[in-house]
Amino acid sequence: MIARIRFKFTLLTSVLIFVVLLILGSILYGFMLNKSYKDFDKNMTAQARPMTRALEAGRIPKKLIRGDTLSTQTSQGAMRAPLAMFLWNKKGHLISKQPLFASSNQVEVLKSHLNDNHLTISFDGHYYRVINAAVIVNKRHLILQLVRNEDQLRSTLHNLLFLLILGTVIAAALSVFIGFMLADRALIPIRKSWDRQTQFVADASHELRTPLMAIQARAEMLLHNPDKTIDEESEKIGSIYQEAKRVSRLVDNLLTLSRGDSNAIQIEKHQVSVPEVLDKTIDNFVPLCKSEDIGISLECHRPLTAELDDERFRQLLYILLDNAVKYNRPGGKIHVVCNRRGKGIEVTVEDTGIGIDEADIPNVFHRFYRADKARSRKTGGSGLGLSIAKWIVDAHGGDISLTSTPDKGTTVTVVL
Ligand SMILES: Nc1ncnc2c1ncn2[C@@H]1O[C@H](COP(=O)(O)OP(=O)(O)OP(=O)(O)O)[C@@H](O)[C@H]1O
Ligand SMILES: [Mg+2]
Repeated sequence: MIARIRFKFTLLTSVLIFVVLLILGSILYGFMLNKSYKDFDKNMTAQARPMTRALEAGRIPKKLIRGDTLSTQTSQGAMRAPLAMFLWNKKGHLISKQPLFASSNQVEVLKSHLNDNHLTISFDGHYYRVINAAVIVNKRHLILQLVRNEDQLRSTLHNLLFLLILGTVIAAALSVFIGFMLADRALIPIRKSWDRQTQFVADASHELRTPLMAIQARAEMLLHNPDKTIDEESEKIGSIYQEAKRVSRLVDNLLTLSRGDSNAIQIEKHQVSVPEVLDKTIDNFVPLCKSEDIGISLECHRPLTAELDDERFRQLLYILLDNAVKYNRPGGKIHVVCNRRGKGIEVTVEDTGIGIDEADIPNVFHRFYRADKARSRKTGGSGLGLSIAKWIVDAHGGDISLTSTPDKGTTVTVVL
């Protein structure tokens, strides 16, 4: 699964990098091509200026063509290559020509391009730039044709194209490597979350199996004695009921956590009267505390309001108080303190219970972690309470911490 995602991601990023480089390369080449020909044409026109001035003054020189023959490749730089000039009348007759310079065949080709402009033609494997300019000499409309060898320019552009293609091919190979590295890095959190999720499902299945097997075993025992009355089998039925309740609670917790993971639960904050929520929640715990012989007290700054999701805040208090009762001893105490802290509040739940070993403290917020497994199982704990508490606190942008001394007690501090 992860390998497939990595392959797809690598492919996607390398194709993306390659396409971007290809587009950039094409833009660069197009720009250079355009600019080089523009400069080349400008240079040709500048080179021909003395001739155009002479023509405008009414003089038609006999020899228009300066430089070497058209078919000779220039060894000079492209911009300084010799310029050839031809003067045509509107009917296509060559008025001034240097016979040595261009063959009759070449002259025919040039003549066929009198109506085009800024074009490239080739003779005998060499390339020439042709510019036609309309001039009026002694009221006659003539065409001055400028021709210049552009082999050097073409070779420079070919070299550039070759370098760009080579660069793109190398970059394509590199992009596969980069794509692979990027995919590997990008997949780290996905892999971690995948592993966590797999572990979560495995732990959840394991936790669900125990009560479900207990229910199954007791139901089978009931089926073996169909003649017995409910009263006679009340112990087994009661135990099925307890286990079913445990499964239901576990499923509720699992749903809360998985919905929290996928952001399916939204925190809805509004102004909450904190002492009111604390009073009600603690009241609900009083009967349980009495039956366990545990004293419970509250010390709260009043009035005290804060921006909270009251439903989740209540759930958080239940989790902390449930632990404070569950991991306490007869005659023990629970003390809840609540004060303002900046714009929010700070709640501490302190108990005089069994405490937690130092080595276990960093793990208690991990899912399914139980420091005292035997006791936790006996009390129906599945190790999800503090994970949910942490999720609630994180969703509020708050902080939760725990300090504990074995045999003395535990204090959980929540800042919201
Ligand atoms: N107040 C406490 N005193 C002593 N140990 C605690 C206290 N609170 C938590 N623990 C330890 O941390 C572990 C994790 O607590 P948590 O609330 O996440 O799970 P649980 O109580 O075992 O099960 P659940 O809350 O899902 O019913 C507990 O198993 C217990 O060992
Ligand atoms: Mg708990």
